[in-house]
Amino acid sequence: MSIIIITAMQEEYDAIQSVLEWDEESGDHSFNGQRVIICKSGIGKVNAAQHLADAVIKEKMISTVDLVINTGVAGNLSRDQNIGDIVLGTECFHHDVDATGFGYEKFQVPGMPASYKADPGLVRRTLELSEGMNVRVYAGPIATGDQFIHSHIGKERINLNKPDARCVEMESAAFAQVCYNFKIKFLAIRSISDDADGKAPTNFNEFLKEASLNAAELVKRLVIDIISPQLKKEGA
Ligand code: ADE
Repeated sequence: MSIIIITAMQEEYDAIQSVLEWDEESGDHSFNGQRVIICKSGIGKVNAAQHLADAVIKEKMISTVDLVINTGVAGNLSRDQNIGDIVLGTECFHHDVDATGFGYEKFQVPGMPASYKADPGLVRRTLELSEGMNVRVYAGPIATGDQFIHSHIGKERINLNKPDARCVEMESAAFAQVCYNFKIKFLAIRSISDDADGKAPTNFNEFLKEASLNAAELVKRLVIDIISPQLKKEGA
């Protein structure tokens, strides 16, 4: 049994490594048969898909992959959220895809679902595990595209078609699509680094580290929850 944790950026990768306090040199950990792999894809949908597919194929030679978790930062699309808050992706969609000319739904890749849904039980459990954290945690749709959104027009274009989208970033729907193809559960856990407005590039740089650590903390809680039966067996 394996869990793959994937980040886009080095800062996001460093955050999960430091929060987990496991062997910093290695992205590969084993707990009585439960493996946890940490890897980095690079930014954007193509890098995301390529690196996750590579990691899954490699890991499948050793073990079954049960879950992929993406952790990192995102731009805010919702008025009730602030920088540092966390969003669990109940579904991920490509905000830069449009095949409506052929009758597909807005944002739907032809032949694929309109969005990639997370397992509701996993979302519920992760929300429970977030209790006691001193940041707010929301669950809702995550928009993905090969664009850094830094204007109200950019945000409105997404929210007009998907008013409940909570945040925007550049990889989750690609990770989710790969997982859909491999029939593997997927959850994105992202923390808000900026408001996807004119100040977004500055705020992104300022809050990248802090927000990455917030998301990583919740990923840690989820991973410990999943591997704890294995840890108990190890101690027995
Ligand atoms: N990741 C973090 N902030 C973002 C933004 N404003 N647009 C796209 N991806 C992001």
